[in-house]
Amino acid sequence: MPSNLRKSYLATSDIHTLPSHLPLGALGLLPVNAYLISARQPILVDTGLAIDRGNFENALWSLVDPRDLRWIVITHDDRDHCGNLKEVLMAAPNATIITNGLTVARLGEEWDVPAHRVRTVNPGRTVELGGRTVSFMRPPSYDSPATLAMYDHTGDALFAADSFGTVLPEMVENAGDADRSDYLEGMSTFTRANAPWTALADQVKWDSTLAEFSKLNPGSVLSSHAPTATSRAGELVETVRAVPAMDPWLPDEDLEVEAVLDRYEASHSDTEPQGAK
Ligand SMILES: [Fe+2]
Ligand SMILES: [Fe+2]
Repeated sequence: MPSNLRKSYLATSDIHTLPSHLPLGALGLLPVNAYLISARQPILVDTGLAIDRGNFENALWSLVDPRDLRWIVITHDDRDHCGNLKEVLMAAPNATIITNGLTVARLGEEWDVPAHRVRTVNPGRTVELGGRTVSFMRPPSYDSPATLAMYDHTGDALFAADSFGTVLPEMVENAGDADRSDYLEGMSTFTRANAPWTALADQVKWDSTLAEFSKLNPGSVLSSHAPTATSRAGELVETVRAVPAMDPWLPDEDLEVEAVLDRYEASHSDTEPQGAK
């Protein structure tokens, strides 16, 4: 598969987006972003797609010296967030991973993350990373129990992991450059596809979870799967608020079981011996 990595751009004055995407057939394109906070102690948020290996590291190291990278925040263990973690960690001798203990356990299915290179954190924790204050929280929707969102107080930016992701007909850097209905309808679809459990969510509890994000009202919402959303947190919250009442979403399927059974029964009856009952 060819690399889909595109040129890095600034999401805010000191946060770089390393953008890629995955094609999802008729649904459109799913943005897949990692982010680099250019702080006194630089912070990388997620590590891109494995199909971008090599290109991802080249783009990252053009923005920060590997010896200067200090923190690698892993929002969760999914492959689109950890695609180049091992390569980045090995190249950056002074970097420490910050993630949830469940992510470490789940990554252990594939490789042993060196324990001395990891600090674990749970939702609700606020820490200082080289003078930059960040708070970790569970985002509204997610597809791994390990998922952490991160709010950067200095940049007033929410790194939302899979939450507030969307699918789009073409890639754009800013949500304002996308057609508004494409962007918001794509968000409804992606949220249901990524977190089908939202169909079971209690609306009152869902609303109270979203109320916390409304209160936070981050200036920038930086989803792993969306262009930069500036000053529109309220609109995003309203979009996902409607999700539990919507029909669940499922992809198309190639195998229609009932049609296959009908064909089997028809052919079986054709070959039945004469006189059989
Ligand atoms: Fe995920
Ligand atoms: Fe994801």
